[in-house]
Amino acid sequence: MKTNTEKFGVTPNQPSLWTRADALKVRADDPTTTQPLVSADFPVLNNDVFIWDTMPLRDLDGNVTSVDGWSVIFTLTADRHPNDPQYLDEDGNYDILRDWNDRHGRAKMYYWFSRTGKNWEFGGRVMAEGVSPTAREWAGTPILLNDRGEVDLYYTAVTPGATIVKVRGRVVTTEHGVSMVGFEKVKPLFEADGKMYQTEAQNAFWGFRDPWPFRDPNDGKLYMLFEGNVAGERGSHKVGEAEIGDVPPGYEDVGNSRYQTACVGIAVARDADGDDWEMLPPLLTAVGVNDQTERPHFVFQDGKYYLFTISHTFTYGDGVTGPDGVYGFVADSLFGPYVPLNGSGLVLGNPSSQPFQTYSHYVMPNGLVTSFIDSVPTDETGTQIRVGGTEAPTVGLKIKGQQTFVVAEYDYGYIPPMLDVTLK
Ligand code: FRU
Repeated sequence: MKTNTEKFGVTPNQPSLWTRADALKVRADDPTTTQPLVSADFPVLNNDVFIWDTMPLRDLDGNVTSVDGWSVIFTLTADRHPNDPQYLDEDGNYDILRDWNDRHGRAKMYYWFSRTGKNWEFGGRVMAEGVSPTAREWAGTPILLNDRGEVDLYYTAVTPGATIVKVRGRVVTTEHGVSMVGFEKVKPLFEADGKMYQTEAQNAFWGFRDPWPFRDPNDGKLYMLFEGNVAGERGSHKVGEAEIGDVPPGYEDVGNSRYQTACVGIAVARDADGDDWEMLPPLLTAVGVNDQTERPHFVFQDGKYYLFTISHTFTYGDGVTGPDGVYGFVADSLFGPYVPLNGSGLVLGNPSSQPFQTYSHYVMPNGLVTSFIDSVPTDETGTQIRVGGTEAPTVGLKIKGQQTFVVAEYDYGYIPPMLDVTLK
């Protein structure tokens, strides 16, 4: 059998490790890596739906792209049920938190458009009911392929299973708005293999999702990042010296952190169209540190690879912790080695006074970071909350070498285009 190097000219990688020692450096509430407080009187994009993961239309190089002057975003979306008896509490009031927490099971891909890169207008569903093969349409990436408006939407078809898929359609513009047409045939691309990436059979809590295709700025080939867990039966992973890293005396106890096995996966396309993919070993693993490295994505800057991924407090292993937010790693070449940004990996976390204010951060090549509002406390004790399901204020980051700094805050859901494509 041919090796990956012979087949694709790609050198198979040795995963870089996010170690427990790195994670011990995470400092919540460092102002340079903390998202400004989101006020509880935030505006809601649309009162009929919850939105969360936001996926700006972009090209294969990562540039956020408008078409004929229209910005376009895709969002994971679910109906709100204020009048559904299923979501009323004993007093007959709408239990919005329960409705919000149930959203993943009915997530669908919707799109929105705007002339100003904010104040998004409702577009609708990308695929008609019945087109996607599974119950849940989970996160991915819409890619504008050309000036004919062709779009490849890569996403995750979940329940049953978790399959990385794509569907090709077209973006059409008029003076009055944008529509998505022809997203009718979903093509399965690949699933976890159980050798590099953990399967459902190995772990009922496995993660395999969130495709982010890109053209490598150096070798010009088509690759894809995705979220995974390291293959192996749940509980069988070893948290050894390498995973622990250089800890001070007294920090050797890893508790039950063998259950935390996140990784950032990578695949390479065998064809120019991205219909045929080969999984490669993960770029980064977090065994013993964290169980989820979600929505991985790159910013290519100053000849470096800035790898960003979102993670949660609740997915950290015993003895390590950090805020919900976006974490980052940098390397001089695609296959690493990657080192954690800011020493710890933390790039933009929630303040400890509002630990769930935002999530699903996406760092764009212009340094702007979009996310959604999850829930914001409305009283001192944090027992009363307001559920979001809408766009958070955009944050501006400066990325310098191995460090990042929060430097600006913009309007809610501000996602300006980096280039405009005039459709033929
Ligand atoms: C991040 C995420 C993604 C997943 C989706 C499911 O917020 O967990 O990894 O695709 O949400 O709703």
